Amino acid sequence: MQLFEMKDIKKSFGDLDVLKGISLTVEEGEVLSIIGPSGSGKSTLLRCATHLETPDSGEIKQSGEVGLVFQNFNLFPHFSVMKNLTDAPIRVQKRKKEEVFRQARELLKKMGLEDKEKAYPYQLSGGQQQRVSIARALCMNPKILFFDEPTSALDPELTGEILKVIKDLAAEHITMVIVTHEMNFAKEISDRVIFMDQGVIAVEGTPEVVFSSENARMKEFLGKFHQGMSD
Ligand SMILES: Nc1ncnc2c1ncn2[C@@H]1O[C@H](COP(=O)(O)OP(=O)(O)OP(=O)(O)O)[C@@H](O)[C@H]1O
Ligand SMILES: [Mg+2]
Repeated sequence: MQLFEMKDIKKSFGDLDVLKGISLTVEEGEVLSIIGPSGSGKSTLLRCATHLETPDSGEIKQSGEVGLVFQNFNLFPHFSVMKNLTDAPIRVQKRKKEEVFRQARELLKKMGLEDKEKAYPYQLSGGQQQRVSIARALCMNPKILFFDEPTSALDPELTGEILKVIKDLAAEHITMVIVTHEMNFAKEISDRVIFMDQGVIAVEGTPEVVFSSENARMKEFLGKFHQGMSD
């Protein structure tokens, strides 16, 4: 079943055409990765998909709530971990407190954070903050979870920790769209990969197809990436 669709989405900031007609679909249970050079419009695409940004034109169809996990966690600094998880479900979704607290505790346990309920974000490591942020997104019962470079603010060890959490979610068939610069991770976890370049989808397909693409920009991008890796 199709959970999400974008049709010919365009977005400009002043003279800068950032999204030049993006169309994509996401199927239930699918993991879709979005890769591409800096400035190609990946974050803008996710921000449009999650209604943080309004497209200039085009159409978005979705069934149910969409969640977003940010690169810099974006936790509320003045809220405890528990309140970070439960505030929106109670105040915005108007759900019953007891039910939301029960779900929040389950999610924290799943993230290995059962002892951090009362902690504040500043008392947590980056990896722990990102796990709270994933739990917070899940506590809204989203149909799709979008991730914007969820590990780029983390050191390699904590990166592994978060990638493991995302892999576990994939194993549970949670539908996810992940903007990432972790190419091996994208290869391994994705059902489908999109390569964005200058505001358009330049290559799209299975990881095998995309990572062996003859597209010149894609090859240049992967080449730079491999160079970066060997530094
Ligand atoms: N609110 C905004 N106002 C003006 N320009 C913006 C705004 N948001 C993004 N841009 C510009 O749009 C372009 C695409 O930005 P975007 O953040 O979507 O790229 P990205 O692919 O996510 O890059 P990165 O890999 O560095 O995160 C950039 O040139 C950026 O400066
Ligand atoms: Mg970005």
